Amino acid sequence: MKILMVCLGNICRSPLAEGILKDKVEKNGLPWSVDSAGTGDYHIGSMPDTRSVAVAKKYNIDISGQQARQFKTKDFIDFDLILVMDASNYRNVVNLARDEEDINKVKLIMNFASPGENIEVPDPYWNNDGFEQVYAMLDKACEDLIEKYRP
Ligand code: 4NP
Repeated sequence: MKILMVCLGNICRSPLAEGILKDKVEKNGLPWSVDSAGTGDYHIGSMPDTRSVAVAKKYNIDISGQQARQFKTKDFIDFDLILVMDASNYRNVVNLARDEEDINKVKLIMNFASPGENIEVPDPYWNNDGFEQVYAMLDKACEDLIEKYRP
């Protein structure tokens, strides 16, 4: 299984989601690959936000080597699941879909933790206190995702 995490900038939420899921995939010995991207182009080539790097480090996950990139239509070919953080990410990604099969790959990540509730992962960029909450939400969603798809 190939999973792509998507947010707006690819510097706060989706790098954390990538790091958290990669850690669980490794611990569970699963043959999955995980990547992340942003719908926007503002931060292409940047490393994750220092506040995301710090909260990940607190839980022994190193995301400092990641580099932001922009989501592209080819990602629908390369990935099986495209997990977005909020409704705005969902619209931006679905706007690039070629067909129904592409659209069906796109899911709100928190629906793995709270099915059908369409809960959004809040953008922590303007909120210094938001990163712990974002970490906890993504950790739960990734745990439930592993439970759901683990062979
Ligand atoms: P992210 O957070 O989508 O979780 O990476 C953001 C990062 C940067 C901006 C917005 C959100 N920005 O406007 O620059």
